[in-house]
Amino acid sequence: MSPHAGPPSPADHLRSVFYRMGLDDKEIVALSGAHTLGRSRPERSGWGKAETKYTKAGPGAPGGQSWTVLWLKFDNSYFKDIKKRKNEDLLVLPTDAALFEDPQFKVYAENYAEDQDVFFKDYAAAHAKLSNLGAKFDPPEGIIIDDDSNVAPEHFAAAEHSPSE
Ligand code: HEM
Repeated sequence: MSPHAGPPSPADHLRSVFYRMGLDDKEIVALSGAHTLGRSRPERSGWGKAETKYTKAGPGAPGGQSWTVLWLKFDNSYFKDIKKRKNEDLLVLPTDAALFEDPQFKVYAENYAEDQDVFFKDYAAAHAKLSNLGAKFDPPEGIIIDDDSNVAPEHFAAAEHSPSE
């Protein structure tokens, strides 16, 4: 193969980035669903349109291109919209499109487009895992700062997902 054969496929790229952090195919697809929120701005990342009918009024700084119509609402519309790819005003990055093109990713993406509850459950678990990656908790069961509180300490699952040293 030529050394100038171009970058790896979007799916290969996603795996090379996420696998080294211990995240699997299901978690890649679930976390990508964060793009149900927010916008891309060409002057920042180089991706997306300068503005669309969904973003031109803001809120905040107007403009950019969203992945979904209601881009301030967290739901599973990202998966429905990138599956259809029918709306010119909505963004689909190559890594978004890969979720319905790669056979392993597609199983999860189809499921999330159909079943919002499964998406919410898998997203919450994957987001917590991503947030806690590399964190070390001592003691592992957590601590209570407020002595008057009867609230049980939160169970930290990070240790299961973090490299030992
Ligand atoms: C899967 C690989 C990913 C790629 C290639 C990617 C790419 C991008 C790009 C190009 C933007 C637009 C940035 C800009 O122009 O301002 C963006 C925005 C965003 N990304 Fe991702 N992203 C990925 C994963 C994630 C993950 C894992 C999360 C969170 C769990 C996430 C959350 C967001 C959010 C919320 C925005 C909107 C930010 C805003 O409205 O200012 N992305 N992403």
